[in-house]
Order: sequence, then structure tokens, then C-alpha cells
Amino acid sequence: MPSKNLKIRKPNANDGVAIHQLIENCPPLDLNSTYLYLLQTTHFAETCVVAEVEGKVAAFLSGYIKPGSPNTFFLWQVAVGDVLRGKGMAKQLINEVLKRDACSQVEFLETTITPDNQASWGLFRSFAKERSAQLEDKVFFTSEQLGGEHEEEVLVTIGPF
Ligand SMILES: CC(C)(COP(=O)(O)OP(=O)(O)OC[C@H]1O[C@@H](n2cnc3c(N)ncnc32)[C@H](O)[C@@H]1OP(=O)(O)O)[C@@H](O)C(=O)NCCC(=O)NCCS
Repeated sequence: MPSKNLKIRKPNANDGVAIHQLIENCPPLDLNSTYLYLLQTTHFAETCVVAEVEGKVAAFLSGYIKPGSPNTFFLWQVAVGDVLRGKGMAKQLINEVLKRDACSQVEFLETTITPDNQASWGLFRSFAKERSAQLEDKVFFTSEQLGGEHEEEVLVTIGPF
């Protein structure tokens, strides 16, 4: 991991445009509007993480405490740019957010993964193994519910940990 000039921190509104660009460069992630990323960097800053290298946003994790389930962190998107990929950064971002006060009651992590996203399956299986936690999966949104041209989204639940 390049510790030099690497900073891991909460996001703020000045990061919105850079996060939008990062996600655009990280297929197969769905690209949301800059406005959506601005809401995440402000209202949801306590449960989102930015990694910057030499002052530039190089990785981003977004998520929130699931409404009505204070023990569940829902991870929305995690994106690691080329400069940091394959060095443990995605797992570091997950561990970083789970350490925060906002996640003090969290025992489960939920996320959704499309069946073909091997990197994402690899990441979450590895995370579950590290935490010695169970991983369960079931279809959450069907392709039809997503408009027909998008793969189904499988809900992955990891925990308790
Ligand atoms: C998925 C992604 C976030 C992984 O980031 P990363 O920092 O390279 O991942 P890490 O180095 O922390 O790797 C974590 C685990 O995932 C596994 N993994 C990472 N990339 C993988 C790949 N392409 N295929 C299979 N497994 C992979 C690693 O082997 C590692 O497991 P290990 O520690 O047991 O060996 C990154 O590839 C990415 O941004 N992809 C595009 C966006 C995306 O699909 N995001 C996930 C859906 S929200």
C-alpha cells in the first residue's frame, strides 16, 4: 500500500465532482448524478470514506445505516481507481467505516452485487472470511425490476461479526 501521500478520510462537498469522475472510470458501477454524490458527501459523510493520493480522490466507499436496522451497514458502492487497485484498499475502506462511531452498533454488512462482478464477489467473500462471518445471498432486485437491461442485483448479507 503506498502510504506516502495517502490520506483516508470522511468526504465533503468539495469531493462530489471527483467522486463522479472516479465512478465513471470504474465500470461496471452504475454512475449516479453529481448531486447524488454531493448528498452522500454531506448528509451521509459519517458512513462514507474517501482515499486520496497526492490530494486526488483515488477511492470511494458509500453506504448508510439501514433505516430501521441500526445493526446493519448497507454498502452502496465501493470504487478503487487504478492507482490503488489490488493492494487491499477496498477492504481497508470497509474496515475504516465500520470502526467509526456511526457504525458502533453494526453487526451485519449488506450490499448488492451483480452475478458477473467477480472482483466484487472476491472482495466480499474475502471480507467475510477475514471476519469469520457467514455470507448469505439472495436476489434483491430482478433484472425486470431494474428496467430489463441491467443484470439482477443479488443481496449479500455478511455477519454477525
Ligand atoms: C472491486 C474493487 C472495489 C476491489 O478493490 P481493490 O482495492 O482492488 O480490492 P482489495 O485489494 O481490497 O481486494 C480485496 C479482495 O478482493 C479480491 N479481489 C479483488 N479484485 C478481484 C478480482 N478482479 N477478481 C477476484 N477477486 C478480486 C482480492 O483477491 C482480495 O481478496 P484476498 O485479500 O483474500 O486476496 C475494485 O476492483 C473496483 O473498484 N472495481 C470496480 C467497481 C466495482 O465493481 N465495485 C464493487 C461493487 S459496489
